[in-house]
Amino acid sequence: MKKKIFFLVLFSSLLFTHLTLFSADKDAPSSAEAEKEKALKNPYPNDLGPEKIDISKYSAELQEGYKLMLDKCAKCHTPSRPLNSQFLDLKPEELQTLKSSNPEIFKDKLVWQIETGIWQRYIKRMMAKPGCNINTQEGKKIWKFIVEDSKKRKTGAQAKVWAEHRKKLLAEFKTKYPDRFKELFEK
Ligand code: HEC
Repeated sequence: MKKKIFFLVLFSSLLFTHLTLFSADKDAPSSAEAEKEKALKNPYPNDLGPEKIDISKYSAELQEGYKLMLDKCAKCHTPSRPLNSQFLDLKPEELQTLKSSNPEIFKDKLVWQIETGIWQRYIKRMMAKPGCNINTQEGKKIWKFIVEDSKKRKTGAQAKVWAEHRKKLLAEFKTKYPDRFKELFEK
C-alpha cells in the first residue's frame, strides 16, 4: 500500500513537472506576442511622432546607444514611443538648477515629466518584459543615449521647439483616441 502511494506521488510529480516545463516552453513565444499585442493595442501620443531623429551631432557613444535603441526598443512598439516621450531624467543637482532657471517647464507634466531615475526605471521595466532581448550592457547604452537625448531635445534652447512638438502630438492624440487620452491623462 505504501509502495503504491509512493509511486502514485512519484508519477504525479513527474507528470506535473513535465506539464509545467512543457507549458513554459509553449509560453515563451506566446507571452512575448501578448506583450507586443498589449503595446500596440494601447497607443500613446508618443507613437504619432517620428520614428527617428538626427543624431549627426551626437558623440560616437550616443550614436551607438541610438542604434541599439532603434533595434531593441522596436520589437513591440516603434521607436517613436521612447523618442517622443515626455520623460526627462535629471540628476538631483540638475533638477535644482533647472527649477531656478526654467520653473515654467515643471508646470506641464504631459510635456515634460521630470524625475530623477525615470528612464532607468522604464528601461528596466521594458527589459523585464517577455520577448525583450536586451542585456545589461545594451540596456546601459540605451539608457545613456535616452537620458542625454532627452536633455538635448527637451530643455535649454530646444525647450520651445519640444513643447510645440509634444503639444501637437497630444492634441492629435486626443482627437484620434479620446477614450485612451482620458484613461492616460484624466484619471
Ligand atoms: C517586449 C515588448 C516591449 C519592448 C521590447 C519594449 N517595450 Fe516599451 N512598452 C511595451 C508595452 C507593453 C508598453 C505599455 C506600458 C507597459 O506595459 O509598461 C510600453 C510602453 C513604453 C513607453 C511609454 C511609457 C509611458 O507611460 O509613457 C515607453 C517610453 C517605452 N515603452 C520605451 C521603451 C524602450 C526605451 C524600450 C527599449 C529599451 C522598449 N520600450 C522596449 C512593450 C515593450
